[in-house]
Amino acid sequence: MQQSTSATHHIICIVGARPNFMKIAPIMMALSELKPNLDVTLVHTGQHYDVAMNEQYFQALGIPAPDINLEVGSGSHAVQTAEVMCRFEAALEGKNPTAILVVGDVNSTIACALVATKKGIPVIHVEAGLRSFDRAMPEEINRVLTDQISDMLFTTEPSGRDNLLREGVADKRIHFVGNVMIDTLRHNLARAIPTSKIASDAGRPDFASGEKNYAVVTMHRPANVDDEITLGSLINTVVTISAQLPVIFPLHPRTKSMIEKFGFGKLLDNANILLLPPMGYLEMLGLMKDAKVVLTDSGGIQEETTALGVPCITLRSNTERPITVDEGTNTIAGQDPETILGIFNDVMRGGGKGGRIPQYWDGRASNRIADLIAAEFGIAKPQVP
Ligand code: UD1
Repeated sequence: MQQSTSATHHIICIVGARPNFMKIAPIMMALSELKPNLDVTLVHTGQHYDVAMNEQYFQALGIPAPDINLEVGSGSHAVQTAEVMCRFEAALEGKNPTAILVVGDVNSTIACALVATKKGIPVIHVEAGLRSFDRAMPEEINRVLTDQISDMLFTTEPSGRDNLLREGVADKRIHFVGNVMIDTLRHNLARAIPTSKIASDAGRPDFASGEKNYAVVTMHRPANVDDEITLGSLINTVVTISAQLPVIFPLHPRTKSMIEKFGFGKLLDNANILLLPPMGYLEMLGLMKDAKVVLTDSGGIQEETTALGVPCITLRSNTERPITVDEGTNTIAGQDPETILGIFNDVMRGGGKGGRIPQYWDGRASNRIADLIAAEFGIAKPQVP
């Protein structure tokens, strides 16, 4: 890893898994405006490694190649987290960064935060304070623990501050800046790949080529896909929906392997369902933008659909992003088929929930973060000639 040589300050940004990439892209761009007074390097833990889950995001979003890849790969939670910790600690050997910056709630987030804080290196957490209050979700554990050991906490919505204050985090550490993932969405919307191209590349040029005439489905949470009965019920619900509206269903590797394991492939072999591999960022943006409705268990997609004004049905019984329900287009459905179909039918009849864009989801969250980091660590802003 490049060591801070010319600059007085050095921030190490961390990514590990797919939902981190669209968050780090605008942050690195905003921090790069502090050069030459700040060196910014990128560590990739290697939690996600397939081209479809990894490289294609770097290319599409113009993220600089990582300075170091820890190549941890998959494993149980303990193995994966421990591997990131051991390898990140070794990578920090001889370095004395001003701070490390982590995003989101994946295993790489808590692992690197824990290593850094024990070495006395300040931790900056972007997307702090979100809470589902569901400790069965591995991400909830990662969020709570990362926030407890972070020095600067950047929140996306007002609930973040309330949650952090209740957990004893000092108010002065908390900064409401908005949503960096929506920075990326706004910067890239005009480049979104049209659904017609995605369908035609998949060999189905006839499939749902117009706007608002298809649903998008994504699911990958262990609670939805690892259990045979739950996954079978969700897939049957998707099949029911497909009788009314064509369904485009990109499959996460975990979901694909569970469908194979439980023998559900035949259920999805249906002319009204288009199964796709994991989509790149610009492809997914195109699919969501023109969808009539999105059904998902992803956290990020709940926010992206709110920003796009597209109705979202969340296949979980809670959300850590309540603003998407209070102000946005999101409805929490859980896993019960009747509830999901009831909300879906409302969308079919009335167009679904409208919404407004939450405060600071304006494309400038990363600039606010860079300004606050510069002020916190005394990094002078370079003079613009
Ligand atoms: C992780 C995050 C989750 C995030 C999701 C997005 C944690 C605890 N979970 O879950 O919050 O929403 O990423 O994808 O960090 N696999 C591949 N190729 C890859 C990566 C994974 O095939 O490039 C397969 C492996 O079989 C692996 C499984 O997917 O065991 C799960 O990967 P893992 O990173 O452990 O968790 P995700 O379910 O992806």
